[in-house]
Amino acid sequence: MGRRKTLILSVAVLLCILIYWGFYNGLVVRKYIVESRKLNDGESIRIVLITDLHSHIYGENQREIVSIIERQKPDIIALGGDIADDIVPIKGTELLLEGIKTLAPIFYVSGNHEFWTGDISSVKSSIREQGAVILESEYREIKIRSAELIIGGVDDPDIVHYEKPDYNWLGKMNSSFIRLKDAPIYKILLAHRPELIEMYKENNFDLVLSGHAHGGQVRIPLLLNGLYAPNQGWFPKYAGGIYKHGVTTHIVSRGVSYNPRLPRIFNPPEIVVIDIKGIADK
Ligand SMILES: [Fe+2]
Repeated sequence: MGRRKTLILSVAVLLCILIYWGFYNGLVVRKYIVESRKLNDGESIRIVLITDLHSHIYGENQREIVSIIERQKPDIIALGGDIADDIVPIKGTELLLEGIKTLAPIFYVSGNHEFWTGDISSVKSSIREQGAVILESEYREIKIRSAELIIGGVDDPDIVHYEKPDYNWLGKMNSSFIRLKDAPIYKILLAHRPELIEMYKENNFDLVLSGHAHGGQVRIPLLLNGLYAPNQGWFPKYAGGIYKHGVTTHIVSRGVSYNPRLPRIFNPPEIVVIDIKGIADK
């Protein structure tokens, strides 16, 4: 084969690999480790974070996504909003909850699309019926093995436009969580929208978990972490990944949304696994 032919063939193969890689939309597991002196040295708590399912069904009866979550052996499952959708029927959400309800305690916060259904109370009832704890500007103290944690959550701010016009979203959040500000216990906040981090971090959460940005839809490895995200616009700052804000670590899931009309590029749907590891005081 001539040199020219070899070159053309090499470029073609490379292009095929890039196209396959770019458009690969199978579920992936993205892992993060965060360390804290608030947990005993050597202790480790695993959270599986699922956001932005939009009721999509992965495999028969959600078997594919459920089996991945099960394999992670979570201590806590966090559902970070837009699990249900305003257009796609709720069946996919119910099947997910049905599949994971015995794996670990489940905590849920709403996302904007769930308010857009116009019937948020039905959505929450379906989720609550499967045993999930719905966090509406409130928190629970939980114990996983010997670790004590607080997990709080806020409704999506679209609550004001679609359910309770007089609801003071920010005031309610601050009044609910201000008492935790200096608590020496590890504190987690579930909040759908990542762009509101400046508000969440006021309450000194150790870890904030969000979704909503869908990874900015289009990514280019090493060059572009997201092209566009709702409420952040072009080149979103919080498209997905891990961010540090003083004492607060913010993890933004790229979500598990799948829409054949809106391809995700270099941005496969992701199940996020977070290990919180206790480290010794210096
Ligand atoms: Fe959203």
